Parts: sequence; structure tokens; C-alpha cells
Amino acid sequence: MRIISLSLRNFRNYRSADLDLNKGLNIFVGDNAQGKTNLLEAIYVLSLSKSYRTSREAELIRHGADAAIIRAQVEKLAAVDLTVQVSHTEKKRLLVNQKSTTANSFMGRLNTVLFIPDSLQLVKGSPGDRRRFLDVQICQIDPVYRNNLLKYQRVVRQRNSLLKRAWDNRSVLAQLPAWDNQLADLGTKIILRRQDIVQALQYHSRGAHERISDEREELDLIYQPCFETEESIAPGRQYTCSEVEEALRRELKEIRTEEIRRGYTLVGPQRDDLVFRINDQDLKKYGSQGQQRTAVLAYILAELELMYAETGEYPVVLLDDVMSELDRTRQMLLLSILNQKAQTIVTTTDLDSFTAETKQRASVFSIEQGRVIQ
Ligand SMILES: Nc1ncnc2c1ncn2[C@@H]1O[C@H](COP(=O)(O)OP(=O)(O)O)[C@@H](O)[C@H]1O
Ligand SMILES: [Mg+2]
Repeated sequence: MRIISLSLRNFRNYRSADLDLNKGLNIFVGDNAQGKTNLLEAIYVLSLSKSYRTSREAELIRHGADAAIIRAQVEKLAAVDLTVQVSHTEKKRLLVNQKSTTANSFMGRLNTVLFIPDSLQLVKGSPGDRRRFLDVQICQIDPVYRNNLLKYQRVVRQRNSLLKRAWDNRSVLAQLPAWDNQLADLGTKIILRRQDIVQALQYHSRGAHERISDEREELDLIYQPCFETEESIAPGRQYTCSEVEEALRRELKEIRTEEIRRGYTLVGPQRDDLVFRINDQDLKKYGSQGQQRTAVLAYILAELELMYAETGEYPVVLLDDVMSELDRTRQMLLLSILNQKAQTIVTTTDLDSFTAETKQRASVFSIEQGRVIQ
């Protein structure tokens, strides 16, 4: 899958930009605050219908303008035209081939993998960061999952508000079993799908990890549902549907008093985690920074392979300013792996960090105050 051309109108600091992208490597070079990240953000919005940087969509509109438009021609099996319009006065519009559509049907048309300096924190970051990585990936390839996740988030919100009300009005607790059923039902679906995906990621990341690490080390990715502890889970442990559902129901029962006291839901996939181990050691606690970074890189490459396995096409890879964070060997390795597979869009402040050979096969663009010069 690749982006053929991209147009921006009044998006962030871009008044108007139209560019044709190389099917391999695209390098965007510019000083700080010129619009490099904005450009990748625009592509991400086309992929997931919303930004990873802000939930306030008005921020996407150029100061002083009424509406922002992001549009791209994407080549999948067939060509498709994607547009996102954000306006101060109207609801956001998502268009496929110039026809309005829902977020659920818009997503999955352009698949991307985003890698930013923050991503290097994946291992060390919070469980929420790791869940977001998983969700962003699965949502792109699985409309059923997207739907379940949205429904589940609604259930948790409503259940939380009920638990809060229960503090001074016990009678509302009569409604709790109905919400528990939904939580267990949807929660199980989410956990099982994430578990499958992590198993596939584990498989793909092993190969990638071998390629980028000089050490003889074995990387394990393990999905840790809320009803397990980090110590009790074992690599390769796969839970069945009834095991997950029973465990969720059991936990809900056990923790009910605590939930009422705290006023929110303490059980479910919103409390799960993803554990990285190297040679059976927890990477978060015992890994060196180098080991953690290698594992993240392997994870990102595994995402690529997984998307290929699930959709038959490689996603577009967005690398924001990460080259400077990687040593020379890893840079070269990453670019050479990507070169054989996926359209790649990289930003950098320093073009010299790329070899002459790399620059030669790439399209190089400069960005200056929201203007793109090829
Ligand atoms: N809605 C907006 N309207 C106009 N300018 C914006 C808007 N949002 C961000 N900017 C500007 O975009 C610039 C940052 O762009 P960014 O892509 O993050 O830079 P970098 O090239 O360092 O990645 C800043 O100058 C910021 O003021
Ligand atoms: Mg930036």
C-alpha cells in the first residue's frame, strides 16, 4: 500500500501543499518547528481518522482559517481517494472517493505504522501506552475489533457513572449485573483478539530481533490480562474464551466493594498489559536502554509483518525524527529492511545523517514554515 499524492489545505501551519510521494523512501528535512511532524500527523489522521497528538480537532485548523482539509490518493489493490475535513462550524467529515462515510468504514483504507522518539519508551512507559500501541494496530486491520472496543469503552463509562452514583444511592446497584454481563462479554472479545495479535507479534518480532541484535537473546512478548500478575503469566499461555470470561466474572465479584468505594471499574481489558522479556527476564525492570530500544524496533518491524499477513499489503511507515535516536548500524538496518518492503516517510533535521546511497534512491523534500519544496 502506498500514498501516491498528498494535499493539505489550512492544516496546522500549512496553507496549501500538494506533493507526489516516492513509492520507496521519502525524506522530509527541515529545522525545528517548520512542519515536519505536522505532515506525518496529517497522514496519520487519514489512516485513523484522528490525530495522535491532540483530541481537540480545532487545533488541526490553521490559525485564522475556517476549515482544514487533508486529502490523499492511495494505491491499494485499487486506487482510493481519502479526505478528512475539520471545520470550526461543522462536524468532521470523512470521505472515501468523495463520498461521506463513518469513521468505522473510513479506517483501514490507509494503514500506517508510526514510529516517534516517544515510541522508544514503549517498554518503559505505562501499560496504557502499550495498550494504545496494540489498539492502534488492531483497529486498523479489524473493523469488528474497532466496534467492540467502542462499545466496551461506552460500557465502562456508564458503569463508572453508576458506581459513582451508588455511593449515596445503593438502589442503583440493581442495574450493575446487566453492565457486568456486557463488560464480561465485550471484555472477553477484546482480550482474546489482543492475545491473538500479541502471539503473532511475538512470532514476527523474534525474527526481527535476531536481525537487529548482535546478542543471542530471545525476545518474548506476552499479553497479560488484568486477572494475571506479571509473575504468574508464562510465554505461550493462551486463554480460552470461557477461561477469560470466567476470570472476569470472578474478579468482578471479588472486587465489587472496592469498585463502589473507589467509584470506577477495576476489572477488564482497560487494565491489561503487554510484557516484554529477554531470556526470561523482564525487560522493563532489568533491560539496558539498548536492549529496550532493540526490542521496540523489533516490535515495530513485527507490526509491519503482521499487517502484511493480515491484509496482504505492507503499511506506510512514518518515522518522525527517530534516525538521530538510533545508532548508525540500526539506522542502516532499519532503512534497508523498510526499503525492500514498505513506503517510508522519514523526517529529519539533518540530511547528513543519511548515506549518499540512501539519499540517491529517496525523494528529498525540504520543509520551511509550512511550505514543501521538492
Ligand atoms: N493550527 C495551527 N495553525 C498554525 N500553525 C500551527 C498550528 N498548529 C501548529 N502550528 C505550528 O506548527 C509548527 C510546528 O510544526 P511541527 O510539524 O511540530 O514542527 P517540526 O518541523 O519541528 O516537526 C509550530 O511553529 C506551530 O506553531
Ligand atoms: Mg517534529
